Amino acid sequence: MGFPRATEIAQLLVKKRLHPGDRAVDATVGNGHDTLFLASCVGPAGRVDGFDIQEAAIAGTRRRISADQPVVLHLRGHEEMASVVPAGVKAVMFNLGYYPSGDKSIITQPDTTLRALEAALDLLVPEGIVTVVIYPGHPGGAEEADRIKAWLAGLPPERYRTVHYGIQGRPGGSPPPYLLAIERER
Ligand SMILES: C[S@@+](CC[C@H](N)C(=O)[O-])C[C@H]1O[C@@H](n2cnc3c(N)ncnc32)[C@H](O)[C@@H]1O
Repeated sequence: MGFPRATEIAQLLVKKRLHPGDRAVDATVGNGHDTLFLASCVGPAGRVDGFDIQEAAIAGTRRRISADQPVVLHLRGHEEMASVVPAGVKAVMFNLGYYPSGDKSIITQPDTTLRALEAALDLLVPEGIVTVVIYPGHPGGAEEADRIKAWLAGLPPERYRTVHYGIQGRPGGSPPPYLLAIERER
């Protein structure tokens, strides 16, 4: 059976908070799993904005969305989310790394990821949540993970609560993905 994966825990945390009519962001659309999940949580009265820099990810996800799902997809970097998403968002999901169905050398980058995380926090409503699934095992992934952890440690604790979930890696094995989540205080 095994423990739930970081991506499953991320969805669990988000599902607890999202209600019909809420607004949410998928910061890394990829194959669109989180986009569709968010759309199912917020319902037709809500709104989901999704971002990806790869046309194949946006086009593939667009084909999977039905007409009544309130999803707006943006072929642009998540670091620009503040220019198209108004404040008042309940949840922002990041799933870092590479597009599983595409070129694995195109990965999220620490500088833009951190800018996007800052933007995401600024958009959140009180008690809103940002989830970040991190993959330290691929080239470039460990550096991104370290930069995010350092940034997280500097967040003001009176404004944000944070949590870290991860499966313990095996000695000598590739480090497994893990989840960081940030909740804005009331
Ligand atoms: C691990 S995949 C996301 C998986 C996705 N959540 C799913 O359900 O399949 C990471 C995605 O981030 C995208 N990406 C990389 N840099 C980005 C950026 N600056 N802004 C938005 N997306 C980016 C990649 O193109 C890739 O599709």
